[in-house]
Amino acid sequence: EGFLPFEHEPYFSFGDAAVAQQQRDAYRRVREQYVGKTFPIILNGQRVEGAETFEVRNPADTREVAWRFPKATPAQLEQAIEGAKAAFEGWRFSEPFQRASIFKRAAELMRRRRMEFNAVMGLENGKNWSEADGEIAECVDHFEVFARETMRWSQGKPVYPMPDEHVTMVYEPIGVVAVISPWNFPAAIPLGMALGAIAAGNTVVWKPASETPLSSLLLVELLFEAGLPRGVIQFITGTDDVLGDPLVDHKDIRMIAFTGSKEIGCRIMERASKVQPGQRWLKRVMAEMGGKDPTVVCADADLDAAATGIVQAAFGYAGQKCSACSRVIAEDSVYDELLEKVVRLARDLQVGSPEDNAVLGPVIHEGSAQRIMGYIERGQHSARLALGGERASSEGREGGYVQPTIFADVDPKDPLFQEEIFGPVLAFTRATDWNHAIELANDSEYGLTAAFYSRDPRKIDEARRRIQVGNLYINRKCTGALSGTHAFGGYGMSGTNAKVGGPDYLFWFLQTKTIAQKY
Ligand code: NAD
Ligand code: ALA
Repeated sequence: EGFLPFEHEPYFSFGDAAVAQQQRDAYRRVREQYVGKTFPIILNGQRVEGAETFEVRNPADTREVAWRFPKATPAQLEQAIEGAKAAFEGWRFSEPFQRASIFKRAAELMRRRRMEFNAVMGLENGKNWSEADGEIAECVDHFEVFARETMRWSQGKPVYPMPDEHVTMVYEPIGVVAVISPWNFPAAIPLGMALGAIAAGNTVVWKPASETPLSSLLLVELLFEAGLPRGVIQFITGTDDVLGDPLVDHKDIRMIAFTGSKEIGCRIMERASKVQPGQRWLKRVMAEMGGKDPTVVCADADLDAAATGIVQAAFGYAGQKCSACSRVIAEDSVYDELLEKVVRLARDLQVGSPEDNAVLGPVIHEGSAQRIMGYIERGQHSARLALGGERASSEGREGGYVQPTIFADVDPKDPLFQEEIFGPVLAFTRATDWNHAIELANDSEYGLTAAFYSRDPRKIDEARRRIQVGNLYINRKCTGALSGTHAFGGYGMSGTNAKVGGPDYLFWFLQTKTIAQKY
């Protein structure tokens, strides 16, 4: 309202030599400006150095320390929560239009710096240009979407009238929200959760993943530059022993907005349910967790389109997306042909450095590569290796490079079919028919995304009704949700189904007041 029309931020065309050169120049500038530096945390608007720091390493070559961040102390965590609590007393009464205007300004500021943000992310988590660009464009979309959502939710909702009372229903903020985020989307994910909180009038303690703090810090500073009052976000980095349980358990935290693994999400849910001495509310928990996302391919599907979608969704960012396709379930009659097409496309994926925009970069760190290799080694005893299966190399760089790997004839009980591997590993499973394929798609504790390929309206209708996921994509890949359009969040053990970027998201961060007045 007042801000329409809306358009998703267009991506850069890196195929254009001039645009590609701009991205290379941005990497050069980021290296000159940021690499080797020690960055601060931000408490009450003050940039605070740490007595102790931790290193952020470049996943493309882990010998390189990109930058350092402070290990916050328990006293600094206390200060951050105190600061957010104090700031809440002002921000809770701020005008929605003021909040929305800040987000609009932030969108403008960010548009000018997208390539810089892409390069910072590439050096922190190994996203290539296009993957980083997708995420940074999503951040611009988030600013635009949350500006509009702020205004929409400020209207309240109509109630059924009664003759002798004037009754209104309004939404009010709840308090201090802890935002805890993963490394794989270090900008768009914490930003989505933080904007949800702030748009609703809450304040935030922002705790990024230790692998990727600069992608977050730049966003926080950009919001301040756009006019956000400085106490509204407290930005704190460090180790999980200081910033994990103690942040979740703190009596003054009203809500935890978490995205990350099932293990930590469940832990937070459990700990937050305990009422601490002095705590005056039941904590709210938003926990968006992992996925084991299937692509179902029916016999009548366009197999080339399906193969392309599968390869993009399975191996984009080395399979390290909660939304990544990690299971392909194909009808028997097209199984072999589809497998061959997918193997052919995946075999050609170029492994290399994200800084050079290689299609397949490293996984986040060596520990992750070893965990993935463990699945691959065990998988060779239980399924048929159709591609890859080994570590890959990238011109002498030291990094978690793993070949694109495909297993065929995977049993639905196999860990390759059931467990989130979070790497470039894809499992193919044969279904007797399309109904069986839908059953197999649902045979998972997770329920985040799924893709379904068919040209038959009857099968598509059944898939729409029966596939139990939060984000179902028909005849397209299962990654790449767009803010404002593909409200994102899963079913089952994929989490609380918060649906970031969707029309109900702000409700998570609000409480509802009914006011009945007699005259
Ligand atoms: P993780 O759970 O290990 O860490 C996430 C965050 O939790 C980090 O900031 C970490 O420091 C923090 N943390 C660790 N211990 C904690 C504790 N005891 N209390 C509170 N916070 C604690 O996850 P990760 O490895 O960073 O990310 C990968 C996972 O995230 C995958 O499972 C992936 O599927 C999931 N993910 C889900 C979504 C989604 O929208 N559903 C999106 C992206 C990633
Ligand atoms: N939002 C991200 C996607 O849809 C995770 O791929």
